[in-house]
Amino acid sequence: MTEAILLVGGKGTRLRPVTVNTPKPMVRAAGVPFLTHQLARAAAAGVEHVVLATSYLAEVFEPHFGDGSALGLHLEYVTEREPLGTGGAIRNAATRLRSGADEPVLVFNGDILTGLDIRALVRTHAAGGADVSLHLTRVADPRAYGLVPTDATGRVTAFLEKPQTPEEIVTDQINAGCYVFRRSVIDTIPAGRPVSVERETFPDLLAAGAHLQGMVDSTYWLDLGTPEAFVRGSADLVLGRAPSPAVPGRCGDRLVLPSAVVAADAKLTGGTVVGEGARVAGGARISGSTILPGAVVRPGAVITDSLVGARAHVGERTVLTGAVIGDGAFVGPDNELRAGTRIWCDARIPAGAVRFSSDVA
Ligand code: GTP
Repeated sequence: MTEAILLVGGKGTRLRPVTVNTPKPMVRAAGVPFLTHQLARAAAAGVEHVVLATSYLAEVFEPHFGDGSALGLHLEYVTEREPLGTGGAIRNAATRLRSGADEPVLVFNGDILTGLDIRALVRTHAAGGADVSLHLTRVADPRAYGLVPTDATGRVTAFLEKPQTPEEIVTDQINAGCYVFRRSVIDTIPAGRPVSVERETFPDLLAAGAHLQGMVDSTYWLDLGTPEAFVRGSADLVLGRAPSPAVPGRCGDRLVLPSAVVAADAKLTGGTVVGEGARVAGGARISGSTILPGAVVRPGAVITDSLVGARAHVGERTVLTGAVIGDGAFVGPDNELRAGTRIWCDARIPAGAVRFSSDVA
């Protein structure tokens, strides 16, 4: 059936320091590299051959996923010498496709968590005879996104950059980061130079009279590009709100990987995941958070909507709310880190060094 290209080469700058040592698609969400969820969903939709378009930290993908047979896929890896952007990466990866000129090729952004009916998008594409079909989703506040208005038949009428004024918000439909291309259209993307599919390829195709079809599908959709969204997405996978066949365990309030050690009186809720070899001590309360492998949470720590990096340490009674702790960082006892705090990898925060409230009750 359909082949796919998965774009996994971005630098993931919005997610730093989580992406200092690990490319965004390899950061663990609900206990496995995020990419596993996307690959498993593609396989479940009948995709057999996937080309991974890698660039940043390209070397870590193949040792983990190998030939893809564990997921029932045939995986190939293509690495860009210089980052080619989303469109350039698609063109570059297409050298490994086997599809004929008129056959459909799926393209996925590597940082989108969605319940999209992939087969329905491919069916829509086949039925409408479009050059490219795009998954569109509706968002309450479209200001941070490129807008994609369509006519009554779903045909795309424009690609609008991030709207600045209320008058410019002509639709709440945005590009959701999954496309079906007619193979021959990919071959028209310029080779060997950076190209943005969103800002260059799609507007150019439209201007040239190509048929771009939108399919609005309003199931679960989240762009995991920011720390806040990544933590939310991981929790939604654990809770079963976001569908994935790759969650390693039963969905529920918490997911504790087999080699993790959690004290009997620690309280884990709201889709918290505790990764391999991590330790959570007595009296700790963790809600809606991602604790990566080998991290240590000391007694009485209170962690909400936060990410604790691999081998990081969270001291006794320390409070994290909407915070990110980089890999190997050490946060001493009695700190209070709130929304938006990013502690860099291997940094050391001494006992009681950062607070948002008085230290005396
Ligand atoms: P930010 O730097 O935080 O914006 O993240 P990002 O680097 O992932 O960029 P963005 O979210 O715009 O990328 C969308 C998708 O395209 C992601 O899955 C990226 O991995 C991928 N991507 C972006 N740029 C490139 C590139 O130059 N080469 C390849 N192969 N993939 C890319």
